[in-house]
Amino acid sequence: MNYPVAPTSHAMTSAPATAPARIVLEGVNKTFGAGEKNAGTVALKDVNLAVPDRAFVSLLGPSGCGKTTVLRIVNGLLAPDSGRVLISGAPPRPGPNMGFVFQSFRLIPWSTIRGNVEFALVDAIPDRAERRARADRYIELVGLSRFADAYPSELSGGMRQRVALARALAVEPDILLMDEPFASIDAQTRELMQMELMRLWSARKSVALFVTHSVDEAILLADQVVLMGPRPGRILEVIDVDLERPRWTYDVRAEKRFIELRAYLWDRIRTLVLNDPGSDFYGRNLGTGR
Ligand SMILES: Nc1ncnc2c1ncn2[C@@H]1O[C@H](COP(=O)(O)OP(=O)(O)O)[C@@H](O)[C@H]1O
Ligand SMILES: [Mg+2]
Repeated sequence: MNYPVAPTSHAMTSAPATAPARIVLEGVNKTFGAGEKNAGTVALKDVNLAVPDRAFVSLLGPSGCGKTTVLRIVNGLLAPDSGRVLISGAPPRPGPNMGFVFQSFRLIPWSTIRGNVEFALVDAIPDRAERRARADRYIELVGLSRFADAYPSELSGGMRQRVALARALAVEPDILLMDEPFASIDAQTRELMQMELMRLWSARKSVALFVTHSVDEAILLADQVVLMGPRPGRILEVIDVDLERPRWTYDVRAEKRFIELRAYLWDRIRTLVLNDPGSDFYGRNLGTGR
């Protein structure tokens, strides 16, 4: 394959020489069910990652490649079997400096939408009125003001996912971890949410780790795309996304560079899937169409 401009990619074993990385994973291994009757599932194998401060990084890869496991290890909810994890130079621990959008939303069913967002702010904002104002601001941002007094069960899956996003953003964390936050949101709302997320992030650059299945979304949002997979979870490549910001002021998807990056990533993914004996499409002769 001949790409007019090859993407800048580098192995993640060497961190960028500039500012010290904000999130560092060194030789991280994680096996679920190790020592049990079955051999156990290798979720991460020698994962090395260095996320620069203020970077927006997309984690892209097929189901089961270990994306969620990476987020849980960064969050401190899960300990690796071996290897080192450092957040701002210290071991990770869950707290208000980290916002997490779970794949499963995890809303409190007996609390309203506003209540769900306020609950995340109890420690950070002791003053009730101030807390409510902050919650309402982020509920508005995700377009759900009309539903602030509704309960999660009254909302669609996509709306619940937006609540989960509002709850994580409202904390205004230094590190934002998002696990497929737009996966169940319809296409139009998804585009609006992508734009809002970019606006927010540009105004207050926290480190963002964003898990997605979508190649387009991975490129659109990120400074770097970390390509993972297939099993066992490894980082295969890190691609720099050299598209101008802000990206909501022009049709970034129509840019030549965007199209090149997308073609490159799709080609990599197609090759991975067709060569993975565990894949449903292993060994098939799927042409590139180009
Ligand atoms: N709690 C768990 N117990 C056993 N296996 C798990 C657990 N969590 C994840 N796994 C396995 O680890 C691998 C990676 O999972 P995950 O990180 O959720 O992948 P992804 O988010 O990329 O889909 C998968 O094979 C998955 O089945
Ligand atoms: Mg996952």
